[in-house]
This record gives sequence, C-alpha cells and structure tokens, in this order.
Amino acid sequence: MSPFLLTRTLPEDATDAALRADVRAGLTGSPKTLPPKWFYDAHGSELFEEITALPEYYPTRAEREILLARAGEIAAASGARTLVELGSGSSEKTRYLIDALTGLHTYIPVDVSESALTLAGQALVAERPGLDVHALIADFTARLTLPDTPGPRLVAFLGGTIGNLLPAERAAFLASVRALLAPGDALLLGTDLVKDETVLVRAYDDAAGVTAAFNKNVLTVINRELEADFDPAAFDHVALWDTEREWIEMRLRSRTAQSVKIPGLDLAVDFAAGEELRTEVSAKFRQEGVRGELSAAGLDLARWWTDGEGRFALSLSIAR
Ligand code: SAH
Ligand code: TRP
Repeated sequence: MSPFLLTRTLPEDATDAALRADVRAGLTGSPKTLPPKWFYDAHGSELFEEITALPEYYPTRAEREILLARAGEIAAASGARTLVELGSGSSEKTRYLIDALTGLHTYIPVDVSESALTLAGQALVAERPGLDVHALIADFTARLTLPDTPGPRLVAFLGGTIGNLLPAERAAFLASVRALLAPGDALLLGTDLVKDETVLVRAYDDAAGVTAAFNKNVLTVINRELEADFDPAAFDHVALWDTEREWIEMRLRSRTAQSVKIPGLDLAVDFAAGEELRTEVSAKFRQEGVRGELSAAGLDLARWWTDGEGRFALSLSIAR
C-alpha cells in the first residue's frame, strides 16, 4: 500500500449540488446567511494560514503552546494507533501529537479542502517514513466512513473549529464523532474561551485586513462556481461579539443597494444599502459548557488544559 492515499468520499458533482443548495437557501432567506465550509477553496485555505500568523489571531499560538506541553500526556492517555483529524487544514500543530504517539499506525486527515490535504499529506509522508497517511476529502458534518485501521482511535478536532457550528449542529456533530469511537477511545477537542471583547473582535478584524479578505473569498468562490457577479469591494467585513450567545459573528455588509446575479442558479439577489449577510459564527466556550455538551454525546471529559494566559483550552474526553 502506498503511504499516502487521498480518497474523495463524495463525487465532485455532490459538492456542486451542496453548494447550489446552500447558496440558494442562504441568499433567499431572511436574514441572508452562507455556511462557512465554502470559504475553503485553495485560496481560502492559504488565507486561513495567513490568519494563523497574524499578531491579533492568538488561537493558533495558544493551542500550539498547549499541544507542545501536553502531547506526551495525550499520547499516554490515548495510546492511539489511529489518529483521525477533522478539519485538519495544514496539519501543522498535529505534528506534535504524531511525534508523541509512538505506536501510531495511520493518520487520517479529513478536510473539504483538497489542496490543503494534498500539501499536508505529501509533506508528512516525506517527514515520517513508516507512517500511513490516508487523507479523506469529506464534510465532517456528514456521516463519515473511516478506513478499517487498528485501534485505539483518537479523534482530534483542533483550531476551535467546533465554534463554527451552531449549537444544534454541534450536538449532532458530537454524536456523530461518538459514533466513530469504541468505548475507551478518545476525542481531543480545541475550544477557544470566552474573554475580553476587544481581544476577541481584533482576532476577527485584523489591522492588515487578511480576515476581511478571507471573509470576502466566499463571494469569489460563488462567482467562480456559479458564474455570479458579486463585487467583493461592494461589501464591508464586519465582526461583532454577541454577548448573549457568546459568539463572534462575521458578516458582509452591502455598501449600497445592489442586485447580484447568479446565473448558475437562475437567481438575482437584492441587497439593501447596509444589509448584512452572515457568513460565520465562532463560538467561545467555558469549561462547564464543554463538559455538558460532551457528556450529552456520550463523552466524559477527562482532562482540561489551557495555555498560560487562559485564552484557549484543549480537552481530552473518553467515549462511554
Ligand atoms: N485544524 C487547522 C485548520 C482550522 S481551519 C488548525 O487548527 O489550524 C478549519 C478547517 O476545517 C479548514 O481546513 C477547512 O477546510 C475545514 N473545514 C471547514 N468546514 C468543514 C467541513 N464541513 N468538513 C470538512 N472540513 C471542513
Ligand atoms: N475556526 C476559525 C475560528 O473560528 C476559523 C476562522 C478564523 C474564520 N478567522 C475567521 C472563519 C474569519 C471565518 C472568518 O477562529
């Protein structure tokens, strides 16, 4: 068997059909919304990597600090022979875990971004001879079928990406993760924590404008895939903290009254001046909330680690 395998679990036209359905539902509803997974074409994945290096975007550095300090404990507690990573992106921080997991047999990165999977997977097999890397192009919110590899299994979901799911989606997602695990298998979950509003808003509205470009990239994806005529410059990037729901909300605000044509959907979408389109939420967490959501899905919180400044948490939970 080749040490690097890339499997597409959905035919390419299924992705097209999902994009069409999501764009139609999201842009004809009120308020207008778009689901976040469509940010991540090759350019979107590159922009996200730029975000992780911004001075304002602390989550990546905070999570890396925790992984570096705790990889040995995580490896000892899980004893994993198969590591599955959901939304793996560049797999950059994952290297600490892969190095610590001495009995690791197969690494299974799962992402919707084929370019990110290919870049990360090829680098990893070159760096780690002997490790099988079986990448899956798949939507982690859909039911996943994993290759048959030796247990115990550790599922990692890093970067605070769980916060990009709405509460009901999170519950369904955690139940589907539990279904991938045997009793005693583990989930390693990265969650960004509730903190000062200024720090949070800056992380999603940086001075260099990289997050704004990332947010607007979803319009470029729709232009390319559905022949739409969105003018990204006709929208402003907005990041707001919702105190009640404890999430950052990303929006695109139409600068003027305008009508956007989407021939691929045979649709015209009217925006009023100042009308906002919600593109993403990024929920922030507290330990008790995380414990409760995990428990409802059949996962018992076993360990909780934060970085030195208490900004971000990694938790290890065990399937009942
Ligand atoms: N884990 C990395 C990347 C986080 S960014 C880190 O911590 O830095 C979120 C990643 O999840 C991106 O690589 C994106 O392509 C992927 N992603 C977003 N929605 C997804 C979905 N529904 N299914 C699979 N992957 C998804
Ligand atoms: N999972 C990342 C987060 O919530 C994704 C992200 C960072 C993001 N910055 C963004 C998504 C800006 C959309 C727009 O932190």
